[in-house]
Amino acid sequence: MDKELYLPRIAILKNKMDETPDTSTFTFILPEGGNLNHIPGQCLQLTVFGYGEAPISITSSPTQKDYFQLCVRNVGNVTSALHRLDIGDKVGIRGPWGNGFPIDRLKGKNAVFVAGGLGLAPLRSLINYIVDKRDDYGKVWILSGARTPKDHLFRSEWNRWNSIDGFEVLTTVDRADDTWNGNVGVVGSLLYKTDIQVENTMAFICGPPIMFRFVTIDLKKLGFADDVIISTLERHMKCGVGKCGHCNVGSKYVCVDGPVFTYEEMKKQPEAL
Ligand SMILES: Cc1cc2nc3c(=O)[nH]c(=O)nc-3n(C[C@H](O)[C@H](O)[C@H](O)COP(=O)(O)OP(=O)(O)OC[C@H]3O[C@@H](n4cnc5c(N)ncnc54)[C@H](O)[C@@H]3O)c2cc1C
Ligand code: FES
Repeated sequence: MDKELYLPRIAILKNKMDETPDTSTFTFILPEGGNLNHIPGQCLQLTVFGYGEAPISITSSPTQKDYFQLCVRNVGNVTSALHRLDIGDKVGIRGPWGNGFPIDRLKGKNAVFVAGGLGLAPLRSLINYIVDKRDDYGKVWILSGARTPKDHLFRSEWNRWNSIDGFEVLTTVDRADDTWNGNVGVVGSLLYKTDIQVENTMAFICGPPIMFRFVTIDLKKLGFADDVIISTLERHMKCGVGKCGHCNVGSKYVCVDGPVFTYEEMKKQPEAL
């Protein structure tokens, strides 16, 4: 473990963009310049001074060299304080920590991303990494589901992703409104609306646990093996360095062994599912 990574650092809020009524993408810069040099799928511990610390996934790609982004839902103490910050305000960060997505294993392969709601935030880091390193990766299918049209994240990026050769974006909502004439239904149903190739493809799923369970059943039906179904686990965290036991799942600590696990690994830790 690189102890330097766990020392608190300062980051400065540069921009805030509302994605949905309760979720925004925050762009930060480091006073010393550069980026976090993270692996897509890694997280950091975010401190809003006077309020506390919360684990948050890094949603930007490490290929963005001069800033990093967090997409955060306003749910409680720290996250609501973050949403009240002004441009130029400082936050504390520790990390990046965790294993991240297996970008080397994915090289030369296709990727299917299945996101439920806020689950698209960690996946976006890997999606935009593939965009910037297009020649290293194969086809990409992005399947995104949200409760209602206004709950969809990163809508401004759908057209850009769809226009890339070999990319396909499919979206759905649980409940449509007047603004929506697309798919209605659970996100797993999108797997059957396109010609997803199982051979040489890895599947990345992020979303609520119930969605993960159903999407995994669909992926298994299509023929995906347990070791190419990849997801992240979210557990309450305190130390972030494998000491306090708050994030324990079976014999694993999410903060140091995860947050990314294959379905094969999760099946060995029944508390994970
Ligand atoms: C690995 C990982 C990655 C994550 N990535 C992201 C991300 O990218 N974006 C994101 O938005 N979130 C992410 N989260 C979730 C985020 O860390 C949590 O939502 C965090 O708890 C928010 O902190 P908070 O202080 O704002 O909320 P808290 O104040 O801790 O509240 C969190 C939840 O608990 C409820 N709650 C609070 N106090 C009480 C009480 N007294 N009684 C009952 N319920 C209560 C709140 O209503 C809320 O639903 C991630 C979590 C993990 C573990
Ligand atoms: S958060 Fe303390 S052990 Fe993982």
